[in-house]
Amino acid sequence: MASESQAVSDLTGDVLAWGVPRLRDLPWRHTRDAWAVLVSEVMLQQTQVGRVIPRWYSFLDRFPTPATCAAAPLGDVLREWQGLGYPRRARNLHATAQQVTELGGFPRDLDGLLALPGIGPYTARAVMAFAFELDAAVVDTNIARVYARVAGERLTPKRVQSIADDHCPSGDAWVWNQCLMDLGAVLCRPRDPACGDCPIRKRCGWHGDPERPDPAVGSSGVSGKQAPFEGSDRQARGRLMKALGNGPVGLTAVAAVMQRDDATAERLVTDLVRDGLCCTDGVTICLPT
Ligand code: ADE
Repeated sequence: MASESQAVSDLTGDVLAWGVPRLRDLPWRHTRDAWAVLVSEVMLQQTQVGRVIPRWYSFLDRFPTPATCAAAPLGDVLREWQGLGYPRRARNLHATAQQVTELGGFPRDLDGLLALPGIGPYTARAVMAFAFELDAAVVDTNIARVYARVAGERLTPKRVQSIADDHCPSGDAWVWNQCLMDLGAVLCRPRDPACGDCPIRKRCGWHGDPERPDPAVGSSGVSGKQAPFEGSDRQARGRLMKALGNGPVGLTAVAAVMQRDDATAERLVTDLVRDGLCCTDGVTICLPT
């Protein structure tokens, strides 16, 4: 019987053999610049690849380095972020740009990256692997789904990270993580997985068996369906942030801009001000300067 490490190296070999010739040609895969990689990863957290591509180019045109972003008012970064949603991501990126500028460059180790605003275990490892080509195993929603299905059981966050760490081939973390992401996105899809085309089907603990519940459902790191946008707080906040991009809005007009009742508008404005995403003088509300 093959040893555990033999099984692991077979799996990595099969994934790489499938993935390397098929790697999706995505613009952030052509750079090793940590800032450009970080911007892509932050954008990709809640936004689809196709929508991210043009916005990644325009953001980096405007803020090509951490220093250029750090020197800009937060309001300008939020304006550039307009339409991508979850503006706290932009605020954190701006705060990270300021820290990195003060530090004189990006930290290259996990703890140093984790200490930056808004950078969690996934993003820290993505910067290590995709910018610095260091041995770090990233676990995003696609990768967590692949591992849960291969394991044939629900996985806790610790377990999935530990399995990912065991599989990451030393010296090849960049290509390995990219291939595994593509396997998850292209074949091992949330619904209707293409198991017939999968290079590791024989090693999979689930292989799309309709008689068995999908082990990825309920596994840590595997996102469920996104909440509907229509009628959401996210939609209302987006309307206000868009209006603020053009200039201050009177507090009495906020509910109409958001298309919500007064109580909802007040609650959302309170949150936005608390989160540092807007400022108010008690009469109008505006983007931070
Ligand atoms: N999602 C998050 N990071 C990604 C990457 N590097 N390539 C494709 N999709 C991604």
